[in-house]
Amino acid sequence: MDWGLKNRIARMVKPSTGRSVMLAVDHGYFMGPTHRLEDPRSTIAPLLPYCDGLALTRGILRNCVPPEADVPIILRVSGGASIVGKDLANEDLTTSMQEALRLNVSAVALSIFVGSDYEHPSLVNLSRLVDEGENYGMPVLAITAVGKELEKRDARYLALSSRIAAELGAHMVKTYYCEGFHKVVEGCPVPIVVAGGPKFDTEKDALQLAHDAVELGAVGVDMGRNIWQSEHPVAMIQAIRAVVHDKATVSEAMEVYRSAVSASRVPSTSSSKPRSVST
Ligand code: 5RP
Repeated sequence: MDWGLKNRIARMVKPSTGRSVMLAVDHGYFMGPTHRLEDPRSTIAPLLPYCDGLALTRGILRNCVPPEADVPIILRVSGGASIVGKDLANEDLTTSMQEALRLNVSAVALSIFVGSDYEHPSLVNLSRLVDEGENYGMPVLAITAVGKELEKRDARYLALSSRIAAELGAHMVKTYYCEGFHKVVEGCPVPIVVAGGPKFDTEKDALQLAHDAVELGAVGVDMGRNIWQSEHPVAMIQAIRAVVHDKATVSEAMEVYRSAVSASRVPSTSSSKPRSVST
């Protein structure tokens, strides 16, 4: 692997722990103004100091993230479908490698739709993106998307999709946590991050998912709704960091969450240090 590509990955997957907390805010590219992400600028700003990567589209990057921000960007470069359209799987590449380089991003991301009517074009797009990425030292994150069929999130399907993504050259894979997740990890020779999926009823459930995923070999999370749809997004991302980077148990992470919620209620005279929770 080339130095530039390794360097970009090391900005997201922290060498001190070998893990990563990526924040996903790309939902609008097919879901429109998602609940609590209606105004991405105000959702993203307080969470920026706590994420090791920010996953989004070029439009939200340009308009809602200050260029001074010191955060690795994972640029979504696939799209072209919507929740009201015929088929969510009918995506194509929507953003060029030249644009990714111009935006100085740390990785490009696209969805693949194994088993769908659009399996073939999505996999060919992945391969082409990897060819281009290799030319420029740009890592490619393949997302094993399931469209509207959430029931596809089982180990057999996710292991199949993740392995195909790795075979075609993806440098990292984003998939879902599932029962038997170890089979997904064992069959995929590149690092895996997990999405959170729709918001759980409790913070504890989301922390459990993150905990179990890293315990079984994921390098971290690329999580969205379970962070920014939480009543306390900053406390939640701090708790996720504790699980991912500090190997906290779920009850320890819940303690981090509760302390951060309490701290946010008490007016403080000392300056807060956002990264003190974990590396
Ligand atoms: C949308 C995505 C999302 O980024 C991914 O699903 C992560 O967000 P969440 O944790 O809310 O599921 O890839 O296609």
